[in-house]
Amino acid sequence: MAKDPVRVLVTGAAGQIGYALVPLIARGAMLGPDQPVILHMLDIVPAAESLNGVKMELVDAAFPLLKGVLATTDVVEACTGVNIAVMVGGFPRKEGMERKDVMSKNVSIYKSQASALEKHAATNCKVLVVANPANTNALILKEFAPSIPEKNITCLTRLDHNRALGQISERLNIHVSNLRNAIIWGNHSSTQYPDVSHATVTTQDGEKPVHELVADEGWLRGDFITTVQQRGAAIIKARKFSSALSAASSACDHIRDWVLGTPQGTWVSMGVYSDGSYDVPAGLIYSFPVTCVNGEWCIVQGLQIDEFSRKKLDATAEELTEEKALAYSCLA
Ligand SMILES: NC(=O)c1ccc[n+]([C@@H]2O[C@H](COP(=O)([O-])OP(=O)(O)OC[C@H]3O[C@@H](n4cnc5c(N)ncnc54)[C@H](O)[C@@H]3O)[C@@H](O)[C@H]2O)c1
Repeated sequence: MAKDPVRVLVTGAAGQIGYALVPLIARGAMLGPDQPVILHMLDIVPAAESLNGVKMELVDAAFPLLKGVLATTDVVEACTGVNIAVMVGGFPRKEGMERKDVMSKNVSIYKSQASALEKHAATNCKVLVVANPANTNALILKEFAPSIPEKNITCLTRLDHNRALGQISERLNIHVSNLRNAIIWGNHSSTQYPDVSHATVTTQDGEKPVHELVADEGWLRGDFITTVQQRGAAIIKARKFSSALSAASSACDHIRDWVLGTPQGTWVSMGVYSDGSYDVPAGLIYSFPVTCVNGEWCIVQGLQIDEFSRKKLDATAEELTEEKALAYSCLA
């Protein structure tokens, strides 16, 4: 029997990530090849015409799984009945703007969208925040949607996770599918800590630790980390636009693994509400290694954290604590 369609909201759908993301969702890359979807696309009034153009293209593409498309600038209409919400819309930092001004704009966007989701989304709606500052936007959304379980509000660090896998696969000249269990700790910013000290490679001789095969701690603790941290800036320099196709693809990976489960023995990175695991302050949205079963994520416990890693985990937590304080000062 055919499944009932799932309603997926994409905010900022007229933007670059939105344009790359909606066809992936309509093709089944997010929820599976047998899951019909209805897309709800939200953008702001100045982008309404462009948003309508995206809707026209979705109709023209005749996707078999796409059972309906709503393109709107009305946040209530957009949020009504949605099962999954991918929050890509936000206010970008423009030249000469203070951090606080950008934060203030995003705090007010996420506060009002949180209320709309809380009142109008389907029960148990799962939320993924992509727009930057992603961790803190997700935290604001959580604060202003108190009836949405905190376990349902996450932010995207899967792009950073995939970037880490990509760097190791290039270094070892192996296919990325033979690599697993990288970790992004902390903020989706340049203080994030890409950590492959627990990552492994599937070889003909069994599972081998990445650090043993790379055999260059200097690179793993130096250029590898900075390359992943700075990859977003490198893409902007090369493309003159920020990463879009990789962000869209990673957003699909994030939701797919959350809803359909992570493969046995594999974890992924997700920005989730900290419960104090690994001595990360509770009450931040922080990226941890997680496994997902039956639509629920769970932080991987018991990993050894050495002194080098401890400092990195703490530095990115400190930045998130400062961002949280800045966000709250914007609310005052
Ligand atoms: N977490 C990650 O890994 C990651 C990766 C790449 C980009 N990003 C972030 O994702 C966001 C989107 O990137 P992009 O390249 O698509 O930007 P973009 O500027 O091309 O698109 C953003 C869209 O959001 C819309 N928008 C603005 N305010 C809105 C609101 N209140 N409601 C609904 N829509 C609104 C804009 O009109 C625009 O169409 C940015 O904040 C970017 O920094 C995050």
